[in-house]
Amino acid sequence: MKPHSIEVLAHEDLAEADLGELRRLFDTEYLDDLGEWNPEQPYGYAAHDVHVIARISNRVVGHVGWARREIAVGKEPVAIAGVGGVLISEEVRGQRRGVDLMGQIAQSMRDHGGIAFGYLGCREQVVPFYASCEWTRIVARERSIGCDGEPTVDEPGQPLLILPISVPLELWPEGDIDLRGRPW
Ligand SMILES: CC(C)(COP(=O)(O)OP(=O)(O)OC[C@H]1O[C@@H](n2cnc3c(N)ncnc32)[C@H](O)[C@@H]1OP(=O)(O)O)[C@@H](O)C(=O)NCCC(=O)NCCS
Repeated sequence: MKPHSIEVLAHEDLAEADLGELRRLFDTEYLDDLGEWNPEQPYGYAAHDVHVIARISNRVVGHVGWARREIAVGKEPVAIAGVGGVLISEEVRGQRRGVDLMGQIAQSMRDHGGIAFGYLGCREQVVPFYASCEWTRIVARERSIGCDGEPTVDEPGQPLLILPISVPLELWPEGDIDLRGRPW
């Protein structure tokens, strides 16, 4: 394996060693505040079908996950890849690895097929990062199942971003979003 690599892995193909490295990456960042990382429901969010993993030698230094789901926007069903678990190890931030990983996940969504848009929600401070990765902010009310397992509604204005995959950006429908499950 080259010293710097990006690998796309289906969730079921994660080896024990991959899980161990991912646990180290996530626990280093979040253990104190959020507890242990659980690959089947990370911090109460939805699990990922696909993991895009950056390594230096065998050490995992970055991760982005996504999962396909049919959600509802207004009255229309929309096939999205919900994105989460975006994390670059602190010691290698600011070297455009995040941008590289986000480019690779877009390619993995195109390769997968049957995905109209990438979709994610984030904190206000991180929006410029996703804008650098060519994601577009949208404004809509979002219904989902919260990390506590209860239905929840976020009013329009919280950061939601989309990326056109097989459908032009303008074809994102008007209206409220129902994620029909947990966010990622
Ligand atoms: C956000 C994060 C993934 C960015 O990764 P990175 O490899 O350091 O970012 P890059 O070097 O690829 O930066 C690309 C661009 O995003 C901007 N950017 C990077 N991190 C940012 C942040 N935390 N907030 C806002 N903008 C950021 C950079 O300034 C750069 O801008 P430019 O294109 O105008 O030059 C990384 O800082 C991280 O893991 N943070 C902690 C976890 C986190 O917040 N994840 C997001 C959860 S929604």
